[in-house]
Amino acid sequence: MYKIAVIPGDGTGPEQVREGLKVLEAAAEKFNIPYETIHYDLGGERYLRTGEILPPSVFEELKECQAILLGAIGHPDVKPGILEVGLLLKLRFDLDLYINLRPVKLYPGVATPLVDKGPADIDFVVVRENTEGLYAGAGGVLKKGTPFEVAVQESINTRQGVERCLRYAFDYCRDKRDRKQLTLCGKTNVLTYAFDLWERAFHEVGREYPEISTNYAHVDAISMWMIKNPEWFDVIVTDNMFGDIITDLGAMIQGGMGIAAGANLHPGQVSMFEPVGGSAPKYTGLNVINPIASISAGAMMLDTLGETKAAAAIEAAVMSVTQQMKSQAAGKMGFSTTEVGDLVVAALKKQK
Ligand code: IPM
Ligand code: MN
Repeated sequence: MYKIAVIPGDGTGPEQVREGLKVLEAAAEKFNIPYETIHYDLGGERYLRTGEILPPSVFEELKECQAILLGAIGHPDVKPGILEVGLLLKLRFDLDLYINLRPVKLYPGVATPLVDKGPADIDFVVVRENTEGLYAGAGGVLKKGTPFEVAVQESINTRQGVERCLRYAFDYCRDKRDRKQLTLCGKTNVLTYAFDLWERAFHEVGREYPEISTNYAHVDAISMWMIKNPEWFDVIVTDNMFGDIITDLGAMIQGGMGIAAGANLHPGQVSMFEPVGGSAPKYTGLNVINPIASISAGAMMLDTLGETKAAAAIEAAVMSVTQQMKSQAAGKMGFSTTEVGDLVVAALKKQK
């Protein structure tokens, strides 16, 4: 029996998650997957009401679950940073979810802003390190508020942290991809300490994977090539900050934030699944937000739990539904949020 924690979160998060759960329920029924869900009202509303962001007792409960399905975090009345750091990043760090896996795959019929590129060209995966780098919170401030203010924010790269991320990327590339090509994305020409460590570890670990072809690209060049030649990429591994940036770019070329999903993983332990996009508060309660990202996050969850058939079935159902949608943008889908969820469920049920 899988124990799944659900954190609907803020803004349109609850509307997105509702459809994700609807599809999960249909897939679980079809493939006989026993599970229970436990809902947690973490997010902006609870913080404004009680001052609590992630109470220790809730954290202990989350640790006992197999997976966490997250809607979105971010509330217009809460200062930016509080919920992001106190909830989302805290969960990533304290659960040691050291991989952020973000597929960039253009489904048939989905519009991409890239002229002359189609589903055969846009199909790669970004493996983003998720617990170190500039996100580690190292640094500090001196003389704050004065003309002499000094702000230092350091990128932390540990050999162990880098190596486990690289190993995951090599394993993923070997086990899940046909092309078996892994690109390290860094900035070795400027960040000569951090990416020297990354590069050496990349080549050392790479020797254990002769079946995988490796190459390297600077982050600025990759941002250009993701637009110009996305077909060059199979799996890209990178640090936390670069991974954050290039996956927003990736989301845009695969059809937008409505579609992009990601997994925060610690193989063998509780992991967390979420849309790449935010809580989009201006659309709250309008039943217009695209739930595909949340539905796909649910599929990634099932895949991680080992329910690979159910995960593949959801992906196929999603692909058939995105073809019927007018657009992937909120309010322009040609369907409501709940209708999109219903269509995916119907497509799932129709499969043999
Ligand atoms: C993401 C988000 C987060 C990040 C924010 C909300 C802290 O942009 O999941 O990519 O920077 O990692
Ligand atoms: Mn981001």
